[in-house]
Amino acid sequence: MTHTCDSAWLERFPELEMLIPSTALQARVQQLGEQITRDYCMHPPLLVGVLKGSLVFLADLMRAIPLPVAYDFVAVSSYGDETYSTGQVRLIKDLDSPIRDRHVLLVEDIYDTGLTLEYLLGQLRQRQPASLRVCALLSKPARHQVPIELAYCGFEIPDRFVVGYGLDYAERYRNLPFIAVLNTV
Ligand code: IMP
Repeated sequence: MTHTCDSAWLERFPELEMLIPSTALQARVQQLGEQITRDYCMHPPLLVGVLKGSLVFLADLMRAIPLPVAYDFVAVSSYGDETYSTGQVRLIKDLDSPIRDRHVLLVEDIYDTGLTLEYLLGQLRQRQPASLRVCALLSKPARHQVPIELAYCGFEIPDRFVVGYGLDYAERYRNLPFIAVLNTV
C-alpha cells in the first residue's frame, strides 16, 4: 500500500511508478539492522558506504544497529551513460583510515551488474580486513554479470531502472523516501 506521504511525491512526479513504499523500506531496513546487530555483536563492524547512492540507506541502517559501529565512505566513478555503467570502475575517494584487522561491512545501494562491488571487494580485500561482507539494499538478478555473495540483501527487484532513497537519474530523485521505477528511461 502506498503511504500518504509517498502519494504527495507521486503527484508531483508523474513519471514515477511506485515499487517499494517508504513503510516497506523502513521495515526491511530495521530487519537488516537487527540481523547485523545479532551477527556482529561480538565485533562491531566498520560500515563502508559507497557514495553517493548508499548514503540514505546507510544513514537509516546504522541507526538500526545499536552497537558501537563506525562508518566511512568510498566513492567510485564509472564511465558510462547516465543510466547504466560500462564496468570501467575507478576509486575517486578512498577510505579515511586503514582497515587491516577490522570487520568491514560494505554497504551498497544496488547489486546491478556487480562490477562495482567486484572492484571494491578486490580493493578492500588487499588491505587484509579481519572480515569483509556486503550489504546491498537492492539486487537485480536479471542484470548480474559477476557473482557477488550478499551477506544481507534488502529486496530483489525486476530489471527496471529505479530511483529514490539515494538512487538517482542524472543526480535527481535521490531524496525520494521510497523506491520507484522511472518510466521515462
Ligand atoms: P553495477 O552495475 O552493479 O556495478 O552498479 C553500478 C552502479 O550503477 C550502482 O552502484 C548504482 O549507483 C548504479 N545503478 C545500477 N542500477 C541502477 C538503477 O536501477 N537506478 C539507479 N542507479 C543504478
